[in-house]
Amino acid sequence: MKNIIVTGGAGFIGSNFVHYVVKHHPEVHVTVLDKLTYAGNRENLAGLPTDRVKLVVGDIADAQLVNSLVAEADAVVHYAAESHNDNSLQDPSPFIQTNLVGTFTLLEACRLKGVRFHHVSTDEVYGDLPLREDLPGHGEGPGEKFTDHTPYNPSSPYSASKAGSDLLVRAWVRSFGLQATISNCSNNYGPYQHIEKFIPRQITNILSGERPKLYGDGKNVRDWIHTEDHSAAVWLILTKGTIGETYLIGADGEKDNKTVLELILRLMGKDAQDYDHVNDRPGHDLRYAIDATKLKEELGWQPQFTNFEEGLADTIDWYMNNREWWQAEKAAVEAKYAENGQ
Ligand code: NAD
Ligand code: DAU
Repeated sequence: MKNIIVTGGAGFIGSNFVHYVVKHHPEVHVTVLDKLTYAGNRENLAGLPTDRVKLVVGDIADAQLVNSLVAEADAVVHYAAESHNDNSLQDPSPFIQTNLVGTFTLLEACRLKGVRFHHVSTDEVYGDLPLREDLPGHGEGPGEKFTDHTPYNPSSPYSASKAGSDLLVRAWVRSFGLQATISNCSNNYGPYQHIEKFIPRQITNILSGERPKLYGDGKNVRDWIHTEDHSAAVWLILTKGTIGETYLIGADGEKDNKTVLELILRLMGKDAQDYDHVNDRPGHDLRYAIDATKLKEELGWQPQFTNFEEGLADTIDWYMNNREWWQAEKAAVEAKYAENGQ
């Protein structure tokens, strides 16, 4: 693995992965292929050594470009996607184009050149779980988290497009012998996350003097993982995973949205009740929870960022110290939410 392509490497999780590889694997050269959509930012790669990281601005659905880059690579780590559920409810079309046609284009290039492929996906392909309080025994038993055997049941255009892309990868492995793995991870938090997403939206609302916004009653549960733990897991799967296998990535970080929001307010020195309830997301998934036993037992992965409050405090500091990274976009992001009463 000397030369890898990281698609979407100027986005949130992709750029954190590039930083991780540069720091921990000095022999590796990274080509980032990124279209720099509203979610991509070349600043996310600022300061990285230019002899080891090259940014190519382009579309993963551009077959000519993709074929020429893949011809020079040992592996493709595929993060590029339209990634926000709320956007997919307003206009699904870029989700179909990038997440399905884009993934197909990469798969074809890797098939033709015999290149290793790792597909980065989401736990949302499995749909949602009942809230623990609604389960007999309050959800403490087995089978109440997602595993790689959970049937696919996506809810939104975003998660359906990711589910479709996972199935394309599986078909290319089975029919063409593509050397590929898949990972499905839970909700990430950390630096460089776009301010449309829950945690950075609330932090930057508070920093801008706006009230945070909670969808519905805030009982929906997300299984939070620090993005650095996600990066370590992806590297391990890329280098030691079994071809054709799917690995679920999660760090036992289940929390409801209300709890997370009140913690953010408290950590920022505000009254924990100082927020607005806004319109709920249509089709809003209730709960995600990952069983990462396979990843831990087969590949020896363990999360390192197990103190959520500490990780969240560092994330808050990052947004406080990097106002120029988000401030110019803030008004437009909020105006778009306001159109939907959110
Ligand atoms: P993001 O929206 O922050 O970044 C996506 C990146 O992809 C951006 O840099 C964007 O410019 C680029 N991109 C979009 N369309 C492109 C195209 N057609 N060609 C080339 N580049 C394109 O997303 P993220 O939150 O960092 O998510 C990255 C990946 O991880 C996605 O595949 C997502 O489904 C998956 N994932 C995300 C989470 C999460 O919590 N955010 C959890 C599990 C899996
Ligand atoms: O589970 C993995 C997924 O996590 C990834 O596949 C997606 O790319 C990523 O965006 C994320 O999806 P969610 O929809 O869970 O994340 P989001 O940050 O949009 O919302 C998290 C929760 O917070 C969700 O229950 C909706 C709620 N929410 C969100 C926003 C933006 C609010 O209550 N208020 C808000 O302002």
